[in-house]
Amino acid sequence: MCGIVGYVGPRQAERIVVDGLRRLEYRGYDSAGIALVHEGTIASDKRAGKLSNLDKALADNPPPESSTGIGHTRWATHGPPNDQNAHPHLGAEGRVALVHNGIIENFAVLRAELEAEGHELVSETDTEAAAHLLEAEVVAGSTLTEAMRQVVRRLEGAFTLVAVDAQDPDRVVAARRNSPLVAGIGDGENFVASDVAAFIEHTREALELGQDQVVTITRDDISVTDFDGAEQPATPFHVDWDLSAAEKGGYDWFMRKEIFEQPGCVADALLGRHSARGRLQLDEMRLSDQDLRDVDKVIVVACGTAFYATMVAKYAIEHWTRIPCEVELAHEFRYRDPILTRDTLVVAVSQSGETADTLMAIRHAKAQGSKVLAICNTNGATIPRESDAVIYTHAGPEIGVASTKGFMTQLVASYLLALYLAQVRGTKFGDEISQIVGELEQMPQKVGRVLEQADAVNALAADLAEARSVLFLGRHTGFPIALEGALKLKELAYMHAEGFAAGELKHGPIALIEDGLPVICVVPPRGRDQLHDKMLSGIQEIRARGARTIVLAEEDDEVVRPYADTFISLPKVPTLLQPLVAVVPLQLFACELATLKGHDVDQPRNLAKSVTVE
Ligand code: G6P
Repeated sequence: MCGIVGYVGPRQAERIVVDGLRRLEYRGYDSAGIALVHEGTIASDKRAGKLSNLDKALADNPPPESSTGIGHTRWATHGPPNDQNAHPHLGAEGRVALVHNGIIENFAVLRAELEAEGHELVSETDTEAAAHLLEAEVVAGSTLTEAMRQVVRRLEGAFTLVAVDAQDPDRVVAARRNSPLVAGIGDGENFVASDVAAFIEHTREALELGQDQVVTITRDDISVTDFDGAEQPATPFHVDWDLSAAEKGGYDWFMRKEIFEQPGCVADALLGRHSARGRLQLDEMRLSDQDLRDVDKVIVVACGTAFYATMVAKYAIEHWTRIPCEVELAHEFRYRDPILTRDTLVVAVSQSGETADTLMAIRHAKAQGSKVLAICNTNGATIPRESDAVIYTHAGPEIGVASTKGFMTQLVASYLLALYLAQVRGTKFGDEISQIVGELEQMPQKVGRVLEQADAVNALAADLAEARSVLFLGRHTGFPIALEGALKLKELAYMHAEGFAAGELKHGPIALIEDGLPVICVVPPRGRDQLHDKMLSGIQEIRARGARTIVLAEEDDEVVRPYADTFISLPKVPTLLQPLVAVVPLQLFACELATLKGHDVDQPRNLAKSVTVE
């Protein structure tokens, strides 16, 4: 996830673009850059690190006057976050500059083709190949708009591209496929950006763009076509929030915004995982197939919310690969003298990639000769750097301290790892793996359907705002989700909350049930042994003792419905994948309850986003 801005108009483009990037910094902050058109040339500057680094560079070395510019704030996917990989990228002659959000899945083929023609690419990004292709079309006589259409037709993946041509000073051209882009309508000036926040200071009138569209802005005109050049209608809309809400994209909290971003994050986490022949491929898999075949035990370590993702990972890894899998809190793991050999695969799950407890755990594992794989959201962080292999979760920067989209994409990455191991070790056939990947690919839409129930969940939160305690029950993969639901409530609403394995209820916790106590029950899908029926019995038991039951179950689960005081419906999904949809109402619930209690949802008391001390 990255932030993109483009501007054409009478004002100094540098300021408009950099201010726009500042409002988009939530989308990425590992490097930033701009390109301005000035007297037939491109003036470009780009820097690793936060936008302030670029700001400083521009202050030390002010760019020329320009009325046309583009900018980018990056969250690295291809290549580490350094100056060279930062955007914009230029074509071979430096005439065209391009910024990009997303992943171009077939970039390796395009890059090889360009190199065979003598192009020298200086970065490790997928974007630079597109910049070279675009410029080649422009040099051959196409307008920038025509060139953009020709290039995007050749690209696979999800992308937003925004470009300028040094010899066409009053035009910015952008294209979009499955990645965000809006146009801003000014007076004698126009904008494009990943999100209206970038231009809200200048205009609240915007144009909604559809998928697979190319948009060209000049000072007085915005024109939209499809990738073949046919004109397309675009819907104008008025933005009904202002600058103060800009960084949060209109939401009251980053956390709520991040919850609602999850369908897109799941899609991004799945992007580019197939080779042309349909085999799974992972980001930085520096372990050989033989290394993975030799693995005789997997240990997954993490802290906090990420630990609950490891618990789900265990179910998937053991079921799909038949390799014994242990999960452990990273801070406990190291000090109990765990049995580690060269054939142990230690998987570290960490959104930030900097959690000290998790880092120490992998250092300990490496010292014993074990192999280490990281599941991480932060490109180039310490944990992935020190690991033998990495699966990046591609959720974009997570600002809310309580992890939501980070967790969701950790689940996706865990499933991908389990399937990859199954592929390499032959414990699942190719068609079985493709079928599960197909199920995963439906998840963005299914997570979206759960989000449509936000109003009902918010009403429930309002109803329970005065509750003294809330319990969460789940079985199988619903158990870690119950634990995560309880953790969210503790850390955000500062309420007593506990999660239990539903089967454990009768061994003690049922004593806590009293009249009116809210109990949130995650019901497994029907069809997996007697899981569903056993959960139903548990719900009946607590209801008989006065509990107020809030039941998350499959949408057409009429058997359980009579025992639900509140019913939250989940789309039909396989049991192992249910956490992806079941966690969403629990995130919304905690976010809303904390809001109603007047707490700072993004920065809960006593907590830090990344805990870099043991
Ligand atoms: C902190 C955060 C949690 C997070 C945990 C692990 O405690 O407050 O939200 O789950 O760290 O962080 P990591 O970056 O390793 O996933």
